[in-house]
Amino acid sequence: MTDSLHEKIAVVSGASAGIGFAVAKKLAAAGTHVVALGRNPEALEALKAQCPLGRVQPIAGDLNDPRYLSELDVAIDRVDYFVNNAGILTYAPLMELTDQQIEDMFVTNVLSSVKLTRLLAKKMIRQKAGHILFMTSTGARSVFKLAIGYCATKHALAAFANGFRLELQSDGIKVTEIAPGMVDTNIRANSPHPAVAAAMQARKFSPITPDEVAESVLFAVRATPNLCPDFIEIRPHGAY
Ligand SMILES: NC(=O)c1ccc[n+]([C@@H]2O[C@H](COP(=O)([O-])OP(=O)(O)OC[C@H]3O[C@@H](n4cnc5c(N)ncnc54)[C@H](OP(=O)(O)O)[C@@H]3O)[C@@H](O)[C@H]2O)c1
Repeated sequence: MTDSLHEKIAVVSGASAGIGFAVAKKLAAAGTHVVALGRNPEALEALKAQCPLGRVQPIAGDLNDPRYLSELDVAIDRVDYFVNNAGILTYAPLMELTDQQIEDMFVTNVLSSVKLTRLLAKKMIRQKAGHILFMTSTGARSVFKLAIGYCATKHALAAFANGFRLELQSDGIKVTEIAPGMVDTNIRANSPHPAVAAAMQARKFSPITPDEVAESVLFAVRATPNLCPDFIEIRPHGAY
């Protein structure tokens, strides 16, 4: 039997690393054409090389650059799934973050993410079909010490996800929010604060893997037409 993902077209932001890389790989393995977005062209080429021939189309650029969004608008015609995954985190006490660091998280995690969603949603409205998946976080409903600014961005993104679902459901478009907790990726690489290192050392559970998060994306996009998984929250067992 042919996989329901076969010959579908997915756009995955943040496909050059971590969770997005794993999602893009699994979609491509299932027969989906993946438009892979990220800033690092070499990492996108590495993704392409690990996937079946012809399944991955890398388009490298910075989502905060309006010219890149215009380029994507022209390059992408049809889109069945948009995995809205790119994001940044600066992990430190709120009072020790710079204004710029807080602003950068809001620009990337919320404003650019919403701009790209609106751009691709217009194509889905024309198609009268599509599925948008927002990668938020368990921090979209809780606020964690050392990640307060980041959690605020994810609360905002979750509100947009709920809003897009309300507004787009009559156009045949599904919206799923996926909220993982504690995945070991490079997202904390720019968070050298000693309290962060101490918090990582004190963890009493094993982090979940990008592949495990990617499985939840595949579960959502494989849902039968009348079923919309609105919200999937996942975390390591024992981390609650
Ligand atoms: N790791 C966790 O514990 C965790 C938990 C919950 C939710 N999340 C969310 O999951 C998503 C993916 O995170 P991750 O852990 O996989 O992090 P990651 O390994 O650091 O990957 C982040 C991805 O986002 C891309 N990106 C960041 N800023 C960008 C920009 N301005 N323009 C274009 N692409 C940009 C990066 O591209 P380049 O590398 O090419 O720059 C990279 O592909 C994020 O939204 C994050 O908030 C992560």
